[in-house]
Amino acid sequence: MVNDLNLYDWKELDIDVNSLWLINERDKSGKHANVYHGNFIPQIPYQLISRYTKKDEIVLDTFLGSGTTLYECEKLDRKFIGFDINPKMIDYVNLQMNDSDKNKFDIFECDVRNKDKFSNF
Ligand SMILES: C[S@@+](CC[C@H](N)C(=O)[O-])C[C@H]1O[C@@H](n2cnc3c(N)ncnc32)[C@H](O)[C@@H]1O
Repeated sequence: MVNDLNLYDWKELDIDVNSLWLINERDKSGKHANVYHGNFIPQIPYQLISRYTKKDEIVLDTFLGSGTTLYECEKLDRKFIGFDINPKMIDYVNLQMNDSDKNKFDIFECDVRNKDKFSNF
């Protein structure tokens, strides 16, 4: 099994089962403030995490940005590791996650092009 979805009730599932994902309105609930250029529409990582991971598995995001994928992981009970080169975004996301379970995620300031530094993780 690649995910926690039950294929016997796929029509009722909270995932988009069409080949074309039509998203009417960006999810702006919870921690999704939509303040960062180029941030994901939250429904996109939601769909992918639901399809390709199971509860408690780890999702790696090498371009954390404002943390959209992390907030969806929190919602879906996945663990998370994130990197970003921009220290302001690390601070921003840490602030957003202030009241969250710290055992479920780790985020690091890091240039993912830097092979030596990256291999320490
Ligand atoms: C388009 S944003 C990601 C947005 C994110 N998916 C969200 O929803 O907020 C790309 C991020 O990659 C980071 N980035 C760019 N080059 C990087 C590098 N070499 N190593 C680590 N992070 C990098 C940028 O600082 C930026 O926050």
